[in-house]
Amino acid sequence: MVRWNDRFIALCQAAEAARAALPPIYQAPERAFAAANPLLIFGELRKYANQQLKFVEWGSGVGTITIMADLLGYRAFGIERDVRLVSVAQRLAEQVGSDAVFGAGNFVPPAHLPTAAPSVPAEFALDGGGADGYAAISCLPTDIDLFYVFPHPEMIDVFHELFTRVAKPGARLLIYSQLMEVLTSVRTLMGATALVLA
Ligand SMILES: C[S@@+](CC[C@H](N)C(=O)[O-])C[C@H]1O[C@@H](n2cnc3c(N)ncnc32)[C@H](O)[C@@H]1O
Repeated sequence: MVRWNDRFIALCQAAEAARAALPPIYQAPERAFAAANPLLIFGELRKYANQQLKFVEWGSGVGTITIMADLLGYRAFGIERDVRLVSVAQRLAEQVGSDAVFGAGNFVPPAHLPTAAPSVPAEFALDGGGADGYAAISCLPTDIDLFYVFPHPEMIDVFHELFTRVAKPGARLLIYSQLMEVLTSVRTLMGATALVLA
């Protein structure tokens, strides 16, 4: 039997190799394509594992976290606007035997642009338009139980607001912050709880 540790290590190694094979623009230390620490996210995903919850990663990059969610028993989806990264993620899933689903498109649903956004460089901003990422994964935001995102630190409140506007009551948001912490909020009937350390 393959132990979970072995699968996790195999996934992280394959993800690193996939990332290293990308063109230099993806390797730059700027955070537009930075990857989260998978171990920290693993600790959070494990709390709600094996319940067949629907998980979506907003901006799934090479797919590491979405695949990890799939391996932990979620029905896992990644939405990514960069089609090259979507292909890399799909290959990575195949390589490690994961059923994670990746769709190319925008995770900001049409007509749900945030009302107020800080001035951050364009690659970190939340922009609408382009292909609908939810159509690409055949899911609606209101189907999702657990959202995960790794945003620019100045965009954390904007993502929290987006979650409040699109998620169903009971859904949970996990945010990986630049401080290597995971923040969480739960959608309630009236809005969403404040972001707190998970
Ligand atoms: C900082 S990386 C995070 C990668 C991965 N989620 C992780 O935690 O390791 C952000 C990713 O989100 C993607 N992205 C940013 N805005 C997006 C949008 N509106 N719709 C879809 N993908 C987006 C970027 O192309 C990039 O791959």
